[in-house]
Amino acid sequence: MDSSFAEAVNRQVAAEFYSSYLYLQMAAWFEERTLKGFAHWMRIQAREEACHALILFNHLAARGAAIKLGAIAAPPGDYRSVTDVFEATLKHEQAVSESFRDLVDKALEIKDHAARVTLEWFVKEQIEEEASASELLEKTKMLGEKPGSGLLTLDAALAGRIFTPPAPLAGGDA
Ligand SMILES: [Fe+2]
Ligand SMILES: [Fe+2]
Repeated sequence: MDSSFAEAVNRQVAAEFYSSYLYLQMAAWFEERTLKGFAHWMRIQAREEACHALILFNHLAARGAAIKLGAIAAPPGDYRSVTDVFEATLKHEQAVSESFRDLVDKALEIKDHAARVTLEWFVKEQIEEEASASELLEKTKMLGEKPGSGLLTLDAALAGRIFTPPAPLAGGDA
């Protein structure tokens, strides 16, 4: 595997762990406000992101590429409102989508089709990631400034989210 490309994939491993860290911090923000359903949703999101890091890690390992885990920055932890959290989530996922598009571009450029196949799964996954972030952003916006019981209804619905290991890890090292 091309070494500078492997380094870029290594950076994405750290970026996925950062996403996990970011969502776990958001889970904490919801925990502090006793919004247990939102916190649960964010915990699952954090687990998914750690799985994403592993998918890339596994790819590097299978290809015999050098693996060097990088530093993970502390995520921001103060948000003004529930809507603010989902605005940050959507913005973050849009940036992640951009990273994967760049990685696929690079894979195509160097004709690394094995990496391309792995990375294209992420491009597809990002459609769902952006869609769920924007759905929750819109729903929390509808609740307005004084969310009241509507927020609790949404909180109860989010408590039902079930963790399923991403397909590339299913039955494997999840
Ligand atoms: Fe991810
Ligand atoms: Fe994500």
